[in-house]
Amino acid sequence: MARVAIVTGATGGIGAKFVEEISKFSDIDQVWATGRNLGKLEALASANSKVVVVEADLATDGVDVIDNLIRNYKPDIKMLVNNAGVAYMGKFEDMKCDQIEGFCNVNCTAPTKLISLALPYMHEGAKIINVASASSFQPNPYLTMYSATKVYLKNFSRALNMELKNRGISVTCSCPYWVDTGMLPREKDGKKINYPGMVSVDKVVNKALRDSKAGREMSVPGFFANYFRIYSKLTPTAIVMRQWITGIKKYL
Ligand SMILES: NC(=O)c1ccc[n+]([C@@H]2O[C@H](COP(=O)([O-])OP(=O)(O)OC[C@H]3O[C@@H](n4cnc5c(N)ncnc54)[C@H](OP(=O)(O)O)[C@@H]3O)[C@@H](O)[C@H]2O)c1
Repeated sequence: MARVAIVTGATGGIGAKFVEEISKFSDIDQVWATGRNLGKLEALASANSKVVVVEADLATDGVDVIDNLIRNYKPDIKMLVNNAGVAYMGKFEDMKCDQIEGFCNVNCTAPTKLISLALPYMHEGAKIINVASASSFQPNPYLTMYSATKVYLKNFSRALNMELKNRGISVTCSCPYWVDTGMLPREKDGKKINYPGMVSVDKVVNKALRDSKAGREMSVPGFFANYFRIYSKLTPTAIVMRQWITGIKKYL
């Protein structure tokens, strides 16, 4: 039985790094790299013999694609990394209903269903990593759905980690602040956008894998994210939200 890790959002900055690092693990035979961009998935596979390409759109029928693979191959799932995510910065009232549905599917429904589908194939010592965000530490106006969906993922992860302790399966929630990936626009109307405390994908992924190995429920990489986590606990939410709006309004 193949020992498998499943990584969603494998074509992106953080996901590709997860694939690279996890494929070095001696107890993993295959890394199922999922995403929509077939060209990028094939490039990952041609550079790494453990990578299995899984083209799956998690906004639509992608969970069914992965479900079918799991049912057919019946792997020993050692690790599931729910990393795929979408972000939208702007007014919520400009979002259309189909965009809202796809957003919830990718950020909430897909990770939840994939865990449910993977659990029957996971054994003691298996690991789940969910990539949420420091946006889950407080509500972020104009990033409204993003921060709300990441709160869902964080609370789901933490509660599930406790539920799964009796099976020896850990759930670790990674909550980075800004990360240097293609998700972040670099300029708006010719103005360079600054991302204070931005960290590298290496830092996020290496910390998440260390925290997962140690069975920790939270993984918060870098000084800025840790500072912000404490600051947003101690400061009234209305003040944190106003400061956030002040910081981003020139980019809206
Ligand atoms: N960058 C940051 O500042 C930051 C900070 C905190 C948390 N995060 C979180 O980190 C995770 C990875 O993001 P990233 O920064 O690496 O961004 P990225 O480079 O844009 O990667 C996003 C990944 O999600 C996948 N994805 C998006 N929509 C999808 C869909 N409908 N179906 C399947 N896959 C889909 C993309 O794959 P395809 O394009 O191939 O579909 C891509 O692999 C996300 O959950 C994000 O919220 C990022």
